[in-house]
Amino acid sequence: MDLYGLIGHPIGHSLSPIMHNEAFASLGIDASYIAYSVDPTELPEAVRGLKALGVKGFNVTIPHKVAIMPLLDSIDPLALKLGAVNTVVIDQGKLIGYNTDGLGYLRSLNQILPKPLEDSNVLIVGAGGAARALFITLDEKKPQKLDIVNRSFDRAETLIKGSAHPENHTIFTYEEAEVVLQTYDVIINTTSVGMSPNDSEQPLSLNTVTAGSVVSDIVYNPLETALLKEAKAKGCIVHDGVGMFVGQGALAFEHWTKQQAPEKRMRQVVLEALA
Ligand code: ATR
Repeated sequence: MDLYGLIGHPIGHSLSPIMHNEAFASLGIDASYIAYSVDPTELPEAVRGLKALGVKGFNVTIPHKVAIMPLLDSIDPLALKLGAVNTVVIDQGKLIGYNTDGLGYLRSLNQILPKPLEDSNVLIVGAGGAARALFITLDEKKPQKLDIVNRSFDRAETLIKGSAHPENHTIFTYEEAEVVLQTYDVIINTTSVGMSPNDSEQPLSLNTVTAGSVVSDIVYNPLETALLKEAKAKGCIVHDGVGMFVGQGALAFEHWTKQQAPEKRMRQVVLEALA
């Protein structure tokens, strides 16, 4: 049996084991995925242990996504650019780091986009760690417009400084953004606003949004956030947070097994676990 896993601290009620074990089972792969809580002081020993045990690959979550980097033999260029690793492949004793968060998100977004990303105007809400992965990944795909709305201007500015063309990106206050939403085809919430138990909160009001545009939320607890409820009522296409979670998992699965991930089944089992 092949072994895979997840390291984080605390590991909580991660849905990754359910999702990956279902993916292995549905493809008839003899493998098992286990979540391990690893204290930050023990990260090097834990990584050496995973390698010694013959584990073939693992996911990395908070707080180890940056600290894992010096412990790896090589790092994929996108993960280097993002400055964080969420997936490790162990191949012939070598540890190779990837980051599937941004591309996983994009993979699920692409499935519902009404027009190609290159022709779309995109607004990212927030400028934290999650926003960074999405901003850098989306920026590489060169959407028509890629702008940011955030409470603190400085954080948004730091984010766009990483772009090849910072002058092409506008930073809005929430007040400014709320009156120009009709100019965006895709609006993505990357903040935790609206996450349970604050279900009734939303990062911005969608008064000026155009029906048919996409509203995406990376929050998946609750599955239908207040933001997505308003988006649905306004005739928008909604993209929930399970999309990003399954997308990053599907890409990690493919790095490990070199087989196409059973994405529909993975989404289904995650939705069942959340219900
Ligand atoms: P993560 O790594 O999950 O993205 P983070 O780095 O703490 O978390 O980033 C949180 C993001 O949510 C930031 O954009 C933050 O805005 P500021 O940079 O202005 O702090 C945003 N955020 C958090 N709580 C918020 C709130 N109540 N209203 C608006 N934005 C909020």
